[in-house]
Amino acid sequence: MDEIARAGRPGPSGTRGIAEGPSLLIVGPTGTGKTHQAYGAVRSLLAAGVRLRWEAVTAADLYARLRPRPGLDAERELHTLTRCPLLVLEDLGAAKGSEWTEELTYRLINHRYEYLRPTLLTTNLAIDDLRTALGDRVASRLSEMTHRVILGGPDRRRTPAA
Ligand SMILES: Nc1ncnc2c1ncn2[C@@H]1O[C@H](COP(=O)(O)OP(=O)(O)O)[C@@H](O)[C@H]1O
Ligand SMILES: [Mg+2]
Repeated sequence: MDEIARAGRPGPSGTRGIAEGPSLLIVGPTGTGKTHQAYGAVRSLLAAGVRLRWEAVTAADLYARLRPRPGLDAERELHTLTRCPLLVLEDLGAAKGSEWTEELTYRLINHRYEYLRPTLLTTNLAIDDLRTALGDRVASRLSEMTHRVILGGPDRRRTPAA
């Protein structure tokens, strides 16, 4: 995350925003703290004075949000997410997939890959399982564009705090 903060550029008022930078893939079983770490990273950036628009969405909510329905401009919704300066995309590969979800995921990830837009991804799938769930095109871009952080340990939701 420090790298993302360092990628910050001075803005007009001396605050920093980020345009391009590294992305993270936080991998681990359920309850190991992936969401906690992703939001912690966003908090660190804000605390470091980086001013940016950010958005968080789970893959399941992404698909629900873009599912075609009357009155929805799905391209516009997708455009908002592809352009978001910092996107937290959670639980990748956890939702039931289809050709449509695979294509949508590909378009989102590919755009962020091409424009080097910082993206924090969480998943409980290993990269090979992500490949099966989301296809080669997505897995190969994720391999290249992300630093991988592997979390282990017990499910913190099931382990009472000491
Ligand atoms: N480093 C941490 N210190 C204290 N509590 C934590 C930490 N990481 C996670 N937790 C807590 O453990 C639970 C599971 O964490 P979460 O980030 O939701 O896991 P995941 O996204 O991997 O399923 C949450 O209640 C969260 O607040
Ligand atoms: Mg989570």
